[in-house]
Amino acid sequence: MPAGTAHTPPDRYAVFGNPVAHSCSPWIHGRFAEQTGEQVHYEAILAAHDGFALAITAFHDAGGKGANVTLPFKELAWELAGERSERAEQARAVNTLVLRPDGTRYGDNTDGVGLVRDLVTNHGVDLRNAAILLLGAGGAARGIVAPLLEQRPARLVIANRTPERARQLAEGARALGPVTACGYDALGNERFTLIINATSAGIQGARPSLPDALPVADAVCYDLMYGAAPTPFLRWAAGKGARLTMDGIGMLVEQAAESFALWRSVRPDTAPVIAALRQQRG
Ligand code: ATR
Repeated sequence: MPAGTAHTPPDRYAVFGNPVAHSCSPWIHGRFAEQTGEQVHYEAILAAHDGFALAITAFHDAGGKGANVTLPFKELAWELAGERSERAEQARAVNTLVLRPDGTRYGDNTDGVGLVRDLVTNHGVDLRNAAILLLGAGGAARGIVAPLLEQRPARLVIANRTPERARQLAEGARALGPVTACGYDALGNERFTLIINATSAGIQGARPSLPDALPVADAVCYDLMYGAAPTPFLRWAAGKGARLTMDGIGMLVEQAAESFALWRSVRPDTAPVIAALRQQRG
């Protein structure tokens, strides 16, 4: 063991959310630390709904080196970051904070790149020239629009229950690529190669109500949500003959790996962690 290691406390990281007890991030980062030998301690911290800024400041003052931020604090974290990556700027949401020794905070958003890496690297889905349908226009959707367009798809259609929100999201991303917006009713029999569910309908055990005529056979269907059982959207997609259905476990681990790499300049191997997490969740 190198001199001094035995007495050097590990660097502290944490995920902040409300609720946060369900978070898999401490477990995932624990596996990354074991695998890479990085001296990292990662915990979950419950922040009061009106206490996020205070909680982050206290953690930073106590020597915390970095934080992940989950619901409902991603927009607030964006506000609290003095400096931000371009992808965080585009998403107007931050899921990763670097807490610098000089007291400043750098904000990044690794959600979109996590999704893209899961699709492209882990599952071999070709996004170049793909026809992508994105369902939802809330915070989760906002975080992935720019990274998807960066892959140069043939088109990206954002559809939402409230079409106006989809229109606003598309408007903000127009400069980045071929993006349009509509309501679910306006989806006809146009074929998509990839359909991504970024709505929170699954939390209520529901799914977006899409027209029966929408061709799903041969499409890859991805749900940002995950659970022990397939989500309502993925059950529906499988019933319609989707080529491949995937939940958000891979994205969860990939966004964590991107945060870890940002903090530690070491990229962990995600495949064994995804496999172990899947097994653990049954
Ligand atoms: P998040 O940050 O998880 O995206 P959000 O910003 O509240 O949360 O957005 C939730 C998204 O899920 C929205 O696109 C919402 O549609 P509306 O904009 O029309 O509200 C969508 N959503 C939630 N429940 C839904 C349901 N039962 N059917 C279809 N879409 C739903």
